[in-house]
Amino acid sequence: MPLHLKRLLMLGVLIVLLFLLLKHLLTPVSFGQFGHYRGKAIDEIAAHQVKFVGNKACVSCHDTIVTMKNEGYHSDLSCEGCHGAAYLHVDHPKLEKLFKPDSREFCGKCHSINKARPEKAVTQQNIKDHHPEDKCIKCHNPHQP
Ligand code: HEC
Ligand code: HEC
Ligand code: HEC
Ligand code: HEC
Repeated sequence: MPLHLKRLLMLGVLIVLLFLLLKHLLTPVSFGQFGHYRGKAIDEIAAHQVKFVGNKACVSCHDTIVTMKNEGYHSDLSCEGCHGAAYLHVDHPKLEKLFKPDSREFCGKCHSINKARPEKAVTQQNIKDHHPEDKCIKCHNPHQP
């Protein structure tokens, strides 16, 4: 074989060896344990704090509001969908205050006219013309609108 081809071949072999070495050094130990991902990642994700505790966690202290909401038009909505994640509040209600979304814009996130949203799913209202002088919650109870 001519010398210049031998050199090229050696260079090729060297690159492949270097690739295999780096792959060996840089691949995390638990990679491939269960599939094409890091096996340890499962434990790391499972260790995350659960931040949304669910409507049932509110019953012990706010049973009137829970019952009221479940009987009205907002029965399908989650408390935390409006008030935000409550994992800190349920343990320290006096210290960890929740958000009270009382602005017109907030209700408009679901009720404003939006061609992309199916009309049958949520009643759409022209927020600019519908009693623009007051907050929505002056007339509609957010827990039983
Ligand atoms: C559609 C959004 C929405 C949902 C869903 C919702 N809330 Fe509210 N909530 C509000 C708003 C807005 C206020 C502020 C009312 C005010 O200032 O008069 C409020 C106020 C409150 C208050 C403060 C006391 C009061 O009456 O002002 C509590 C407690 C509360 N909500 C608990 C809950 C619980 C428990 C649920 C689930 C069963 C829930 N909320 C579901 C929007 C919502
Ligand atoms: C251990 C009892 C307890 C539980 C459980 C609890 N709350 Fe409360 N919550 C309170 C108390 C007490 C207040 C009044 C705090 C104050 O006025 O300082 C309050 C106030 C609120 C307020 C008014 C804003 C604020 O933070 O003061 C909202 C909204 C609220 N709670 C929503 C919820 C939701 C939603 C849940 C369920 C995910 C929930 N709470 C679970 C006791 C509780
Ligand atoms: C996360 C989305 C969402 C938010 C935020 C929300 N709503 Fe609703 N609302 C709904 C759904 C879903 C219904 C039940 C379907 C329907 O009737 O439109 C509903 C129903 C209603 C109805 C009854 C409509 C009817 O059919 O007669 C009123 C009134 C209403 N909401 C007012 C409010 C007000 C006021 C706020 C703000 C405090 C608010 N909503 C925030 C989703 C939302
Ligand atoms: C001054 C009182 C008042 C205010 C403020 C108000 N509404 Fe209403 N709303 C009403 C009345 C009364 C009705 C029923 C008659 C009608 O359709 O106008 C109604 C009806 C609705 C309906 C049902 C419409 C239907 O076709 O069934 C929705 C949804 C609604 N309002 C959402 C809102 C939202 C969102 C806000 C704030 C951006 C708001 N409202 C502010 C008084 C009010």
